[in-house]
Amino acid sequence: MSDDTTDSNGEVELEARLAEQEEFEPPESFVEQANVSDESIYEEFEEDWPDCWERAADLLDWDEEYDTVLDDSDAPFYEWFSDGTLNASYNCIDRHVEAGRKNQAAIRWEGELEETRTYTYQDLYREVNEFAVALRDLGVEEDDVVTLYMPMVPELPIAMLACARIGAPHSVVFAGFSADALATRMNSADSEFLITCDGYYRRGDALNHKQKADEGLRDVDHEVQTVIVDRLGDELTHFLGDDAYDYDDLVDAQQGERVDPVERDAEDMLFLMYTSGTTGEPKGVKHTTGGYLSYVAWTSHAVLDVKPEDTYWCAADIGWITGHSYIVYGPLALGTTTTMYEGTPDYPDKDRLWEIVEKYAVDTLYTAPTAIRAFMKWGEKYPERHDLSSLRLLGTVGEPINPRAWKWYYKHIGSENCPVVDTWWQTETGGMMITTLPGVNTMKPGSAGPPLPGVDARVVDAEGDEVEAGEAGYLTVNRPWPGMLRTLYRNDDRFVQEYWTEYSDEDSDEWVYFPEDGAKIDDDDYITVLGRVDDVLNVSGHRLGTMEIESAIVGVPGVAEAAVVGGDHEVKGEAVYAYVITEDGYEESEELRQKIVEGVEDAIGPIARPEEVIFTPELPKTRSGKIMRRLLEDIANENDLGDTSTLRNPGVVDDIQAKVQSD
Ligand code: WTA
Repeated sequence: MSDDTTDSNGEVELEARLAEQEEFEPPESFVEQANVSDESIYEEFEEDWPDCWERAADLLDWDEEYDTVLDDSDAPFYEWFSDGTLNASYNCIDRHVEAGRKNQAAIRWEGELEETRTYTYQDLYREVNEFAVALRDLGVEEDDVVTLYMPMVPELPIAMLACARIGAPHSVVFAGFSADALATRMNSADSEFLITCDGYYRRGDALNHKQKADEGLRDVDHEVQTVIVDRLGDELTHFLGDDAYDYDDLVDAQQGERVDPVERDAEDMLFLMYTSGTTGEPKGVKHTTGGYLSYVAWTSHAVLDVKPEDTYWCAADIGWITGHSYIVYGPLALGTTTTMYEGTPDYPDKDRLWEIVEKYAVDTLYTAPTAIRAFMKWGEKYPERHDLSSLRLLGTVGEPINPRAWKWYYKHIGSENCPVVDTWWQTETGGMMITTLPGVNTMKPGSAGPPLPGVDARVVDAEGDEVEAGEAGYLTVNRPWPGMLRTLYRNDDRFVQEYWTEYSDEDSDEWVYFPEDGAKIDDDDYITVLGRVDDVLNVSGHRLGTMEIESAIVGVPGVAEAAVVGGDHEVKGEAVYAYVITEDGYEESEELRQKIVEGVEDAIGPIARPEEVIFTPELPKTRSGKIMRRLLEDIANENDLGDTSTLRNPGVVDDIQAKVQSD
């Protein structure tokens, strides 16, 4: 037998063993060095709740110490550490410089075209100060909302920290969102300042981003001052219009200038982040300075096991909450080196991520299941080209990960040497809520794990009673936590309505947070999150409201009605399926299909582009006239439809089914 055959037999055996294995223990070598390795932490948090959260707050430097850990007098408008004061920029930068770590790398940035930039903590200190002074000069005052519409360039976290330094909340709008989406968010927040960029690279092409920003600004109903980062130089020339400034000019003009970090109350807003909900209008999730920063620092410490000397990499985009919490605020609060990558994982080739891991000797990699599914599809030959032995810990976030993808990640990226943390959380929760602690718990692929210490997450039935182990139900969070959203910006009613009415008992002042996810729980209290139970889709880990997509589609001339659902997709998890009824006088055509796709791209962005547009003369409706979305989902997934006789128009189902199958 040749060596080759032995190897491949060994490989087959290993695959077979992994396929059957349901539980994995963290490697001893990891446990020995873990920030948290004692399981007594669960009990300690339980016995000492809510004061246990002082441990999170202790990871920060406070200007004014707090006395009150939790103020629940106005629930569900909870306050955390409310009589303390601090500054997030000071905590993420100055204190590390003061501790003699000015030369440590804070940000390692890798451009798509393989350019690199490193900012030490001293570099970050200098540039954040200079830009903060520049912002003040432009007229930005404490509590003014500054909108950042930027791709993955270092100036994005710098601008966030400059805003934090002067107490101006930022509202980051994902660069892949459309001009319309930008305008809606700026109008909603009355934001009078925009920081954006001329363009960026995608798969080697220079994209014009400023044009989108300019288009968006035309729909903003108030005056805006704009700062433009010149990312592309001569590749794309741009002109500064009125009320527009060049980032480098502003920073150069403030060379050496400093601004004292503004002392913020713990409950002052650190940032606003718009996210999708059930209605067409995005929700402005408000996060605060003390509770949020404590919570992301604590979870980065306990779950991501971040150490100051690490090179840590969360391969998300800062335009989403994952990037806010675990590229910028968590890692920098702990004084580690955080990695930023501008581009896509398959450019110039499908080993780009592994090349970066090797190049920077990355210790921890945190990414999304959709990326892992793509890596699996591309095959292990890509990671095998690189030395990934620097990795100590792997993480995933954003959607459920199926056991096969988990095991592939564990084996082919982690060489069976790294724990994998599957972390469940949301824009609203600020940070991780349900996950194993990598130095403590057994891992069960497919199941996120138990709630974190101090977090009370349950799985309940429609009445709010806990379900038996193994049964599906709804996820709830039955106690507040420091990283929680405080409200929806300027919409307290919607905040209470969306999250706190389903399972709370207002009369007895019992407040239960409803994340709108389905879940199962096992005998060990491990929770498997099944996905959204509202009309929100999860496409490649991106959260999209079906209503937002539907309203974009019905805005296209020729469309009378539309229903959007998620269909299963091998890599994206879910894909957008749009069922469309045309107006009288219009017929199904390739041209109309194209207009629909463009309509969605214009209203939201390419991430929401429909995978399938299915023209149909009718939509299946109940007798009361409600569209049966579940049925449309089943049709998209070619599932058995069961009994459809209760529909008002059962005949339509066969027609639609035939269409989907023929497409
Ligand atoms: C889903 C992203 C299963 C869930 C941080 C949630 C997950 C929504 C997981 C929030 C996970 C996130 N397992 N599902 N580990 N993590 N989700 O606000 O449906 O963009 O409600 O926050 O993603 O998406 P959001």
